[in-house]
Amino acid sequence: MSTQATKTQTSPAVKISVNTIGKSTPVPANRPIIITIDGPAGTGKSTVARMLAAKLGLDFLDTGAMYRAAAAIMIDKQFDEDQVGELVSEVIGADLHFDWSQDPPTILAWDNPIDHRIRSQEVTDLVSYVATLSELRQHMVRKQRIIFAQHPHLVTEGRDQGSVAFPDAPVKFYLDAEPMIRAQRRIDQLGIDPQTMSLETMCDRIIQRDEMDSTRADGPLVCPDDAIRIDTSAMDIEEVVDLMAKHVMARVQDLPELDS
Ligand code: DC
Repeated sequence: MSTQATKTQTSPAVKISVNTIGKSTPVPANRPIIITIDGPAGTGKSTVARMLAAKLGLDFLDTGAMYRAAAAIMIDKQFDEDQVGELVSEVIGADLHFDWSQDPPTILAWDNPIDHRIRSQEVTDLVSYVATLSELRQHMVRKQRIIFAQHPHLVTEGRDQGSVAFPDAPVKFYLDAEPMIRAQRRIDQLGIDPQTMSLETMCDRIIQRDEMDSTRADGPLVCPDDAIRIDTSAMDIEEVVDLMAKHVMARVQDLPELDS
Protein backbone atom coordinates (compact mmCIF):
# COMPACT_ATOMS: atom_id res chain seq x y z
CA MET A 1 0.00 0.00 0.00
CA SER A 2 1.35 3.43 -0.90
CA THR A 3 2.67 5.35 2.09
CA GLN A 4 1.33 8.54 0.60
CA ALA A 5 -2.13 7.16 -0.09
CA THR A 6 -5.02 9.54 0.35
CA LYS A 7 -7.80 7.23 -0.86
CA THR A 8 -10.94 6.92 1.17
CA GLN A 9 -13.24 3.94 1.31
CA THR A 10 -16.73 4.00 2.69
CA SER A 11 -17.86 1.84 5.60
CA PRO A 12 -21.41 1.89 6.95
CA ALA A 13 -20.45 4.03 9.96
CA VAL A 14 -17.43 6.20 9.17
CA LYS A 15 -15.18 7.00 6.26
CA ILE A 16 -11.81 5.32 6.62
CA SER A 17 -8.75 7.04 5.17
CA VAL A 18 -5.16 5.91 4.94
CA ASN A 19 -2.70 8.26 6.60
CA THR A 20 0.85 9.20 5.64
CA ILE A 21 2.40 6.05 7.10
CA GLY A 22 -0.20 3.68 5.81
CA LYS A 23 -2.45 3.30 8.88
CA SER A 24 -6.22 3.16 8.56
CA THR A 25 -7.82 6.11 10.27
CA PRO A 26 -11.30 7.59 10.50
CA VAL A 27 -9.61 11.00 10.28
CA PRO A 28 -9.65 12.14 6.65
CA ALA A 29 -6.14 12.19 5.20
CA ASN A 30 -6.58 15.76 3.95
CA ARG A 31 -7.45 17.08 7.43
CA PRO A 32 -4.36 17.44 9.65
CA ILE A 33 -5.09 16.94 13.33
CA ILE A 34 -3.06 17.23 16.48
CA ILE A 35 -4.45 15.97 19.76
CA THR A 36 -2.60 17.11 22.86
CA ILE A 37 -2.64 15.37 26.23
CA ASP A 38 -1.25 17.32 29.17
CA GLY A 39 -1.36 16.45 32.83
CA PRO A 40 0.71 15.50 35.84
CA ALA A 41 2.68 12.30 36.47
CA GLY A 42 0.75 9.12 37.18
CA THR A 43 -2.40 9.97 35.23
CA GLY A 44 -1.61 7.35 32.60
CA LYS A 45 -0.95 9.94 29.87
CA SER A 46 1.52 7.83 27.92
CA THR A 47 -0.57 4.67 27.93
CA VAL A 48 -3.74 6.55 27.09
CA ALA A 49 -2.02 8.55 24.33
CA ARG A 50 -0.65 5.41 22.77
CA MET A 51 -3.98 3.60 22.94
CA LEU A 52 -5.87 6.58 21.57
CA ALA A 53 -3.41 6.88 18.68
CA ALA A 54 -3.77 3.14 17.94
CA LYS A 55 -7.57 3.29 18.13
CA LEU A 56 -7.76 6.22 15.72
CA GLY A 57 -4.86 5.17 13.45
CA LEU A 58 -2.81 8.26 14.35
CA ASP A 59 0.89 8.63 15.15
CA PHE A 60 1.99 8.90 18.76
CA LEU A 61 4.64 11.28 20.10
CA ASP A 62 6.14 10.69 23.56
CA THR A 63 7.75 14.05 24.33
CA GLY A 64 9.00 12.80 27.71
CA ALA A 65 11.36 10.52 25.72
CA MET A 66 12.97 13.64 24.23
CA TYR A 67 13.74 15.11 27.68
CA ARG A 68 14.92 11.71 28.86
CA ALA A 69 17.26 11.45 25.86
CA ALA A 70 18.67 14.89 26.75
CA ALA A 71 19.27 13.70 30.32
CA ALA A 72 21.06 10.59 29.01
CA ILE A 73 23.27 12.83 26.86
CA MET A 74 24.05 15.02 29.89
CA ILE A 75 25.17 11.90 31.78
CA ASP A 76 27.22 10.51 28.89
CA LYS A 77 28.99 13.79 28.24
CA GLN A 78 29.46 14.37 31.98
CA PHE A 79 28.16 17.93 31.85
CA ASP A 80 27.73 19.83 35.11
CA GLU A 81 24.58 21.75 35.89
CA ASP A 82 26.28 25.03 34.93
CA GLN A 83 27.08 23.75 31.40
CA VAL A 84 23.64 24.43 30.02
CA GLY A 85 24.90 25.99 26.76
CA GLU A 86 27.13 23.00 26.09
CA LEU A 87 24.30 20.58 26.84
CA VAL A 88 21.87 22.37 24.53
CA SER A 89 24.47 22.44 21.69
CA GLU A 90 25.11 18.74 22.16
CA VAL A 91 21.39 17.92 22.11
CA ILE A 92 20.91 20.04 18.98
CA GLY A 93 23.86 18.21 17.37
CA ALA A 94 22.37 14.83 18.36
CA ASP A 95 19.36 15.61 16.14
CA LEU A 96 16.94 13.60 18.31
CA HIS A 97 14.40 11.85 16.13
CA PHE A 98 12.12 8.85 16.20
CA ASP A 99 12.03 5.59 14.30
CA TRP A 100 8.39 5.62 13.21
CA SER A 101 8.54 2.04 11.95
CA GLN A 102 8.54 0.90 15.60
CA ASP A 103 5.46 0.77 17.80
CA PRO A 104 5.78 2.82 19.90
CA PRO A 105 8.33 4.87 17.95
CA THR A 106 11.82 4.65 19.46
CA ILE A 107 14.16 7.60 19.90
CA LEU A 108 17.60 8.02 18.33
CA ALA A 109 20.50 10.39 18.99
CA TRP A 110 23.23 10.83 16.38
CA ASP A 111 21.25 8.18 14.45
CA ASN A 112 21.94 5.63 17.20
CA PRO A 113 19.12 4.06 19.24
CA ILE A 114 19.01 5.54 22.75
CA ASP A 115 15.61 4.22 23.78
CA HIS A 116 16.99 1.36 25.89
CA ARG A 117 18.72 3.89 28.17
CA ILE A 118 16.07 6.48 28.81
CA ARG A 119 14.02 4.68 31.49
CA SER A 120 17.05 3.99 33.72
CA GLN A 121 16.98 5.28 37.28
CA GLU A 122 19.88 7.70 36.71
CA VAL A 123 18.05 9.27 33.77
CA THR A 124 14.80 9.42 35.74
CA ASP A 125 16.62 11.13 38.61
CA LEU A 126 18.10 13.80 36.32
CA VAL A 127 15.30 14.45 33.87
CA SER A 128 13.19 16.72 36.12
CA TYR A 129 16.18 19.08 36.31
CA VAL A 130 16.82 18.90 32.56
CA ALA A 131 13.15 19.69 31.91
CA THR A 132 13.51 23.01 33.78
CA LEU A 133 16.07 24.40 31.27
CA SER A 134 14.34 27.05 29.16
CA GLU A 135 16.82 26.98 26.29
CA LEU A 136 16.42 23.24 26.01
CA ARG A 137 12.63 23.43 26.22
CA GLN A 138 12.55 25.92 23.36
CA HIS A 139 14.60 23.55 21.22
CA MET A 140 12.32 20.62 22.11
CA VAL A 141 9.17 22.58 21.26
CA ARG A 142 10.69 23.56 17.88
CA LYS A 143 11.45 19.89 17.21
CA GLN A 144 7.93 18.85 18.24
CA ARG A 145 6.44 21.32 15.77
CA ILE A 146 8.66 19.95 12.99
CA ILE A 147 7.54 16.43 13.90
CA PHE A 148 3.90 17.50 13.58
CA ALA A 149 4.63 19.03 10.17
CA GLN A 150 5.99 15.63 9.11
CA HIS A 151 3.29 13.59 10.92
CA PRO A 152 0.12 15.61 10.52
CA HIS A 153 -2.12 13.04 12.26
CA LEU A 154 -0.63 13.08 15.71
CA VAL A 155 -1.43 12.38 19.34
CA THR A 156 1.20 14.06 21.49
CA GLU A 157 1.57 13.85 25.23
CA GLY A 158 3.62 15.81 27.72
CA ARG A 159 3.15 18.49 30.29
CA ASP A 160 3.19 21.46 27.91
CA GLN A 161 1.81 20.14 24.65
CA GLY A 162 -1.56 21.90 24.66
CA SER A 163 -0.39 24.91 26.66
CA VAL A 164 2.90 25.80 24.89
CA ALA A 165 3.85 23.56 21.98
CA PHE A 166 0.48 23.45 20.19
CA PRO A 167 -1.77 26.17 21.61
CA ASP A 168 -3.98 25.96 18.49
CA ALA A 169 -4.54 22.20 18.70
CA PRO A 170 -8.17 21.46 17.80
CA VAL A 171 -8.53 18.84 20.55
CA LYS A 172 -6.78 19.22 23.89
CA PHE A 173 -7.08 16.97 26.89
CA TYR A 174 -5.90 17.46 30.44
CA LEU A 175 -5.80 14.25 32.45
CA ASP A 176 -5.85 14.39 36.22
CA ALA A 177 -6.36 12.03 39.16
CA GLU A 178 -6.19 12.16 42.96
CA PRO A 179 -2.54 12.16 44.15
CA MET A 180 -3.09 8.97 46.18
CA ILE A 181 -4.46 7.17 43.11
CA ARG A 182 -1.57 8.40 40.99
CA ALA A 183 0.87 7.19 43.66
CA GLN A 184 -0.70 3.73 43.62
CA ARG A 185 -0.53 3.59 39.82
CA ARG A 186 3.13 4.62 39.89
CA ILE A 187 3.92 1.89 42.42
CA ASP A 188 2.12 -0.70 40.29
CA GLN A 189 3.74 0.53 37.09
CA LEU A 190 7.26 0.43 38.54
CA GLY A 191 6.61 -2.83 40.40
CA ILE A 192 7.79 -1.27 43.68
CA ASP A 193 7.78 -3.51 46.75
CA PRO A 194 5.61 -1.76 49.42
CA GLN A 195 8.33 -2.67 51.95
CA THR A 196 10.80 -0.42 50.14
CA MET A 197 8.48 2.53 49.54
CA SER A 198 5.12 3.20 51.16
CA LEU A 199 2.13 4.59 49.32
CA GLU A 200 2.35 7.73 51.49
CA THR A 201 6.00 8.33 50.54
CA MET A 202 5.19 7.92 46.85
CA CYS A 203 2.24 10.28 47.25
CA ASP A 204 4.50 12.91 48.88
CA ARG A 205 6.93 12.57 45.98
CA ILE A 206 4.14 12.99 43.45
CA ILE A 207 2.91 16.13 45.21
CA GLN A 208 6.47 17.53 45.30
CA ARG A 209 6.91 16.78 41.60
CA ASP A 210 3.57 18.47 40.79
CA GLU A 211 4.81 21.52 42.69
CA MET A 212 8.11 21.57 40.76
CA ASP A 213 6.35 21.05 37.41
CA SER A 214 3.70 23.70 38.03
CA THR A 215 6.02 26.41 39.31
CA ARG A 216 8.86 26.20 36.77
CA ALA A 217 9.34 29.35 34.71
CA ASP A 218 9.11 27.80 31.27
CA GLY A 219 6.35 25.42 30.16
CA PRO A 220 4.80 24.96 33.62
CA LEU A 221 2.17 22.30 34.07
CA VAL A 222 -1.17 24.05 33.61
CA CYS A 223 -4.56 22.99 32.34
CA PRO A 224 -5.11 24.96 29.09
CA ASP A 225 -8.37 26.96 29.22
CA ASP A 226 -9.76 25.16 26.21
CA ALA A 227 -8.74 21.64 27.28
CA ILE A 228 -11.20 18.86 28.04
CA ARG A 229 -10.38 17.94 31.61
CA ILE A 230 -10.82 14.30 32.55
CA ASP A 231 -10.46 13.08 36.12
CA THR A 232 -9.34 9.49 35.67
CA SER A 233 -9.40 8.62 39.40
CA ALA A 234 -12.38 6.31 39.12
CA MET A 235 -12.01 5.29 35.47
CA ASP A 236 -10.15 2.43 33.87
CA ILE A 237 -7.89 3.03 30.89
CA GLU A 238 -10.37 1.75 28.28
CA GLU A 239 -13.08 4.07 29.57
CA VAL A 240 -10.72 7.03 29.36
CA VAL A 241 -9.63 6.16 25.81
CA ASP A 242 -13.23 5.59 24.64
CA LEU A 243 -14.32 8.92 26.07
CA MET A 244 -11.41 10.73 24.42
CA ALA A 245 -12.02 9.03 21.07
CA LYS A 246 -15.65 10.22 21.17
CA HIS A 247 -14.50 13.80 21.77
CA VAL A 248 -12.03 13.56 18.89
CA MET A 249 -14.55 12.09 16.46
CA ALA A 250 -17.02 14.83 17.35
CA ARG A 251 -14.42 17.38 16.19
CA VAL A 252 -13.10 15.63 13.10
CA GLN A 253 -15.66 16.80 10.55
CA ASP A 254 -15.06 20.45 11.52
CA LEU A 255 -11.32 20.28 10.87
CA PRO A 256 -10.08 22.48 8.01
CA GLU A 257 -8.98 20.61 4.90
CA LEU A 258 -5.53 20.99 3.37
CA ASP A 259 -5.50 22.99 0.13
CA SER A 260 -5.11 20.53 -2.72
O1 DC B 1 6.55 11.61 30.96
P1 DC B 1 7.98 11.28 31.41
O2 DC B 1 8.09 10.79 32.82
O3 DC B 1 8.70 10.39 30.46
O4 DC B 1 8.72 12.70 31.37
C1 DC B 1 10.07 12.82 31.72
C2 DC B 1 10.34 14.19 32.29
O5 DC B 1 10.23 15.19 31.31
C3 DC B 1 9.43 14.61 33.44
O6 DC B 1 10.22 15.28 34.42
C4 DC B 1 8.49 15.59 32.82
C5 DC B 1 9.30 16.19 31.71
N1 DC B 1 8.53 16.58 30.55
C6 DC B 1 8.29 17.90 30.35
O7 DC B 1 8.70 18.73 31.18
N2 DC B 1 7.63 18.32 29.25
C7 DC B 1 7.18 17.43 28.36
N3 DC B 1 6.54 17.84 27.27
C8 DC B 1 7.40 16.04 28.55
C9 DC B 1 8.08 15.65 29.68
